[in-house]
Amino acid sequence: MKIMKLILVASLLVSSMAFSKNCKVELEASDSMQFNKKEITVSSKCKKVTVNLKHTGKLPKTAMGHNFVLSLTSDSPAVISAGMKAGPGGDYTPKGAKVIAASELIGGGKSTSVTFTTPKKGGDYTFVCTFPGHSAIMRGKFIVK
Ligand code: CO
Repeated sequence: MKIMKLILVASLLVSSMAFSKNCKVELEASDSMQFNKKEITVSSKCKKVTVNLKHTGKLPKTAMGHNFVLSLTSDSPAVISAGMKAGPGGDYTPKGAKVIAASELIGGGKSTSVTFTTPKKGGDYTFVCTFPGHSAIMRGKFIVK
């Protein structure tokens, strides 16, 4: 019985490890004002999603700041203007109910990470960078399957 329990625990551990791996997203942003992904897909089996954002450029965050901000596509314009209102003091990063997730704003050579509850399967979600002028290009679809 003890051995059976051990096997069960071990297999649970392995499956949860494989699981957590799929729930992490590696995203990069550059000095050319672009994300390296236009689409991110995560499994609805993920309880939480972690987005690791890496700024591969050299410019400081005051000139080429990048963040990862997720919302419903329908809320995206309001979320982007909330980022503008936050201003340089608030790192142009929006807060509030319409924001599903928002990372810290980073400059070149820096990395950051944000973990959030996986939004509902099938919703229409968009991720953007809310630094002024970036969201027109720095945007993509976030899909929960
Ligand atoms: Co940006």
